[in-house]
Formats: sequence, structure tokens, C-alpha cells
Amino acid sequence: MRVLGFESSCDETGVALVEVPGGGQGVPKLLGEALHSQIAMHQAYGGVVPELASRDHIRRVLPLTREVLAQSGLTLEDVDMVAYTQGPGLAGALLVGAGVAVALAAALGKPSLPIHHLEGHLLSPFLSADPPEFPFVALLVSGGHTQLMRVDDVGQYEILGETIDDAAGEAFDKSAKLLGLPYPGGPHLAKLAQQGDARAFELPRPLLHSGKPDFSFAGLKTAVLTQVKKLGAAPSEQQRADLAAATQAAIVEVLVKKSMLALKETGLKRLVVAGGVGANALLREQLNAACAKRAVRVHYPELQLCTDNGAMIAMAAALRLQRGFARPHTDGSFAIRPRWDLGAV
Ligand code: KG4
Ligand code: ZN
Repeated sequence: MRVLGFESSCDETGVALVEVPGGGQGVPKLLGEALHSQIAMHQAYGGVVPELASRDHIRRVLPLTREVLAQSGLTLEDVDMVAYTQGPGLAGALLVGAGVAVALAAALGKPSLPIHHLEGHLLSPFLSADPPEFPFVALLVSGGHTQLMRVDDVGQYEILGETIDDAAGEAFDKSAKLLGLPYPGGPHLAKLAQQGDARAFELPRPLLHSGKPDFSFAGLKTAVLTQVKKLGAAPSEQQRADLAAATQAAIVEVLVKKSMLALKETGLKRLVVAGGVGANALLREQLNAACAKRAVRVHYPELQLCTDNGAMIAMAAALRLQRGFARPHTDGSFAIRPRWDLGAV
């Protein structure tokens, strides 16, 4: 079985083709993938402009599909199922991927399969050379979500804790904006932080000692704003780098501490990190150190698969299919779900 997957929930158009091995054995294999990031287009506005995102997905989706087929040396006739991100995400952007996927499936006489975007992130480490084994604790850290989850198998997700306000990616992005960095701020702030001393500023670690695997990042953003105001109109490059380093250190410390708490609560010895913030080098370094101390194995997706992509959607569909959990549609109908809790999958 070959699954063609589409991702269009935000500012990346992703298409990928994954093959499910025969006999139900082994991890599905990535045959081809193509991605177009809209970051350059949205940068002028300091954030994603939903209408521009939708229109750009329309422009990109078919050329990317042709690219994936060319890469894998296959044609549309070789596709057995078409998967797409059903949500959560921007409504107009989701409609493009869902509409194209379901129309393509109908034209080919093949079934289509809706996928939860966060399930894609969660299962993206299965695209790496060293895929995890179930069960594991997952730290899901993206631009819109920050959750700790117990994952017993594909489709068996229990939320252990999540953010009560901003997501970790949002904390990175909003703080970066306050520091005058371009969108999306996370990677820019991480780069600036390399030059800084995290001890130069004292920033809060909200809910650090709550004793529960929950998060809150809104207060941190306010604290960064207060510091930026104190620095005045023309902060030095060193001051900006120090504040970036302090912000990153605060976010990372909370993420690491809560991940360890979730591992302790569940008694599990495996951690999977997924979502855009999972690309952060300091987070990886500190998680590696904390996990090594506790004899916990930690898995990350490949760096380029941390942020949104089509491969994770095709992979999630393939894993569902392999386990017989998939409920594909064949009637050409579809619905998007801009707001959708992963616990409800
Ligand atoms: O998972 P993702 O691509 O999109 C969502 O589904 O939200 O995550 C994007 C988020 C953004 O907030 C971005 O700033 C953050 O991931 N991010 C990073 C890094 N790379 C991406 N944050 C910190 N350090 C990074 N290296
Ligand atoms: Zn995402």
C-alpha cells in the first residue's frame, strides 16, 4: 500500500509518499517528499496572514505533488490512499489540502484518510533511522501546542498535562518579536542566544514547582516585555543576546523539568520529542543530559521533520493503516476541524 499525504494547516505546504510494507511487518518507508515554506512571504507582516497562506497552498500543492511522484519514480495510479491534515489549523489553509486530497482520491477511485496534525508530529520520529518503540512519553512542542502525553500505541493518546495559556513556540515567537527579531522568532532567538549569557537576566519559570506536568508561558512573555522596556530604545547587541539566552533558558528549563515529571509519573523509560521547538539545540542538549541520568532513551525527529511537513501526515496514515485503525472515506465527502483536541482522536 502506498499513501500520498498532504499537509497545509499553517504556513507550510507539504506532500509525501509513504509505503506500507507487505505482511504488516516493519516501519513504513518514505518514498518521496516535497515541502514549500511560506515563511519568506509572511515575514513582511510579522506573522502568518491566513488568506495569503490559503492562496499560496493552492499555488504550490500540485507542483509539489508532481515533484514527489517524480522523486519516487511512480505515478498517481500507484497511489492506494490519500491522507490529509484535517486539523487543527487555519480553516482556509486546511480546506486547500483537504479539498485537493479528497478530489484526487475520488478521481483515482481510491479512499481518503483525515489525519490529526499533532498525531503527525507525534509519530514523526518513526521517519528516523532509529524509530521508537511503544509505550513512550511524548513532549509535543509546536507553535500552537505544548503537551505531555502518554502514548501506548498509534491512536492511544492520554494527555498528562498541557499549557494553560501560551505554547512554548508562542513564547519563543512573542519574546523574539519583543527583541525585534523576524518571524518565526524561535530559531532567530536561539541563534541570538548563542552570543548571550543566560544569567544576566532573572526571568520567571511559571508553574515550575506545581508538581504537575502542566505549563504556563504567558507570564514569561510579560517578564520579557518588562525587561525590554527597562533596556530602553537602544539596547546593546550584548544585552539583546543576554535576554534571548535568559528567555531560552527559562523555556527549556520548564520543558525539561516537566518532561522528567511525566516520565516519573508514568514510570516509562522512553521520551519522544516532536514539534517545531524540538529543533532547539539547548532543549536537546538538556533533555539528553536529564534523560541520561535517569536511563531514559530519548528520540527526536530528523531536524527538518520537526517543523510541519507532509511526510509526518503520510506516516501517521500509514501507521494507522498498518494497524487496521484507519477509517478511510470513499464517498468524496470531507470536513475540516480547525479546533480539534488530540485526546479526542
Ligand atoms: O510544529 P511547527 O512547525 O508548527 C506548528 O504546528 O505550530 O512549530 C513551529 C514553532 C514556531 O513557534 C517556531 O518558532 C518554533 O517552532 N521553532 C523553534 C525552533 N525551530 C522552530 N523554537 C525554538 N528553537 C528552534 N530552533
Ligand atoms: Zn505543526
